[in-house]
This record gives sequence, C-alpha cells and structure tokens, in this order.
Amino acid sequence: MSKKPYIIVLGNEKGGTGKSTTAMHVMTALLRLGYKVGSIDIDARQGTLSRYIQNRETFAKNYDIDLPMPLHYRLERSKADSIKAAEAEDQTAFEKAILTLQDCDFIVIDTPGHDLYLSRLAHSYADTLITPLNDSFIDLDVLAHLKSDSLELEKPSIYADWVWEQKKHRAVRDRGSIDWIVLRNRLSHIHAHNKEKMEGVLNTLAKRLAFRQVPGFSERVIFRELFLSGLTLLDLQDVGRPLTLSHVAAKQELRNLMNQIKVAALEEKIKEVL
Ligand SMILES: Nc1ncnc2c1ncn2[C@@H]1O[C@H](COP(=O)(O)OP(=O)(O)O)[C@@H](O)[C@H]1O
Ligand SMILES: [Mg+2]
Repeated sequence: MSKKPYIIVLGNEKGGTGKSTTAMHVMTALLRLGYKVGSIDIDARQGTLSRYIQNRETFAKNYDIDLPMPLHYRLERSKADSIKAAEAEDQTAFEKAILTLQDCDFIVIDTPGHDLYLSRLAHSYADTLITPLNDSFIDLDVLAHLKSDSLELEKPSIYADWVWEQKKHRAVRDRGSIDWIVLRNRLSHIHAHNKEKMEGVLNTLAKRLAFRQVPGFSERVIFRELFLSGLTLLDLQDVGRPLTLSHVAAKQELRNLMNQIKVAALEEKIKEVL
C-alpha cells in the first residue's frame, strides 16, 4: 500500500443507524486481511467504538487468544470557551491523531450522530465515506427532503449539503475526492414493498447527491450480540464458535461492502482471505 493511510469515515447525522457497528466490522475485516489499521473515535462522549475495542482487549486477555487489534485513538472535543479557539484546538488534535497513525494502511473513523466541528473535519479527510441508513423513510430524511405525494426530491438535507461542503474542502486541501457510499442497514426480509420503494428513491437521489448506493446488512442478531465480548462475526472461528447459515450470509454482506472500497488489490485479498 502507498505510504499515506486510506481513510474510511462512518458518518450520518442521525444516531442509531449502524455507524459504530459498521466501523467495527470494516476495521476487523481490514485487520484480518493483514493491514495495519488505525481507528479514531470522534464520538468520545458515547464512545461506542472505544468501548467495543476495550471489550475486545479484555476478551483476548481473559481467554488468552490473539485477536488482531487496531491502533486506537479517542478524540475528546475541545472545551475551550470561544468557538474559534475550540475549533482551532479540535483541528490540532485531529491532525495529531492522523499524524500518529501515519504508518497505518487504513484509518477507520467513527463519528457521532450530531453536528460537530470535529465530525465535519473528519468527513473532509475521508477517502471513502460510508453512511449507514436504516431502511425507513425517517432515515432517508437525513439525505433529502422528499415530496410526500411523488417522492421527488424537494431539497437536499443539511447533512447532504455538508458532505458536499466537505468534498469541496477536501478538493482544495489536496485535490482528493470523497467516494460517498450509502449503505442500507437492518434490511428486513418481510417488508419487500418498502424495500423496493426505498431502493427506487435512493437510486434517484444517488445521481442527484453523488453517492453510490450499496447493498447493506440485513437485520441480524449477530450484528448486535457481540459488543460485550468485542468480537465481530469474523472472529467467531478463532473463538471456536461454529458458523451458522445466518453468519455465513452476514459474512457475505460484509464482503460485499468491503469490495466497494476502491483500493488496489483489496478485492483480490478479500477473495483469498475473507
Ligand atoms: N444489521 C444489524 N442488525 C441488527 N442490529 C443492528 C444492525 N446494525 C446495527 N444494529 C444495532 O443497532 C443499534 C445502533 O447501532 P450503532 O452501530 O450503535 O449505531 P450508531 O453508531 O449509528 O449510533 C445497536 O443496538 C446495534 O447493535
Ligand atoms: Mg455510534
């Protein structure tokens, strides 16, 4: 890999859409592919990713097994009084974190579900931005306001606007571009009509807002039951847990997502290892 780490940011202005869960799975997949991975938790107040990683460390220690680990960095938001001073401090702290993780092949950044200067900054550093979206029209509202009768785009939402802003910041900073992926999460097998309707609307929005819609994760217990042990479905074999059919299907969903990250040789490695 090139010297500069490839940065993957999980972002969505809304909470509870699967950012931290996806961050943990993408990170573990990259580690299992043999990459050196850094992780940054910008959601330090909630600290889900940090706790997930802590739980993983504890589990590995308690059971004396070797689990691949990221180099983890937890970013606290500045407590400076003035907005200007706080933003300057946030910027310095963020740049320091990136610099500390300079030797990594990838950096995975988890962001909070609300507007924060640090979060915006992180978005502007993304090579790939993954926005998980629950399969509901409430969640879709984060991307765009739709006309209720025709489901046509009324206007982009604030989040879509600020992703656009961060794309511009990124281009000015280093002429880089942000590959924006919208990942549908917690897909249910039963609400086929809603699923189709969402897909249609997202296809139209994808063109207007310049993102790629990718097939995501189904609603599965395995995505939420492993937090306390700090494991992901890619670790089950290491801990001697048999893979069920649902796990195999979940693994395929994760593989599909990983294949969407446009990095040279990644697809080959995924075929070989995952
Ligand atoms: N595909 C999925 N299937 C089942 N539960 C999921 C799935 N993705 C996320 N969850 C659960 O949804 C909740 C929110 O996920 P989380 O990753 O914490 O979202 P965010 O970081 O966006 O707030 C958690 O309880 C998580 O375990
Ligand atoms: Mg989270």
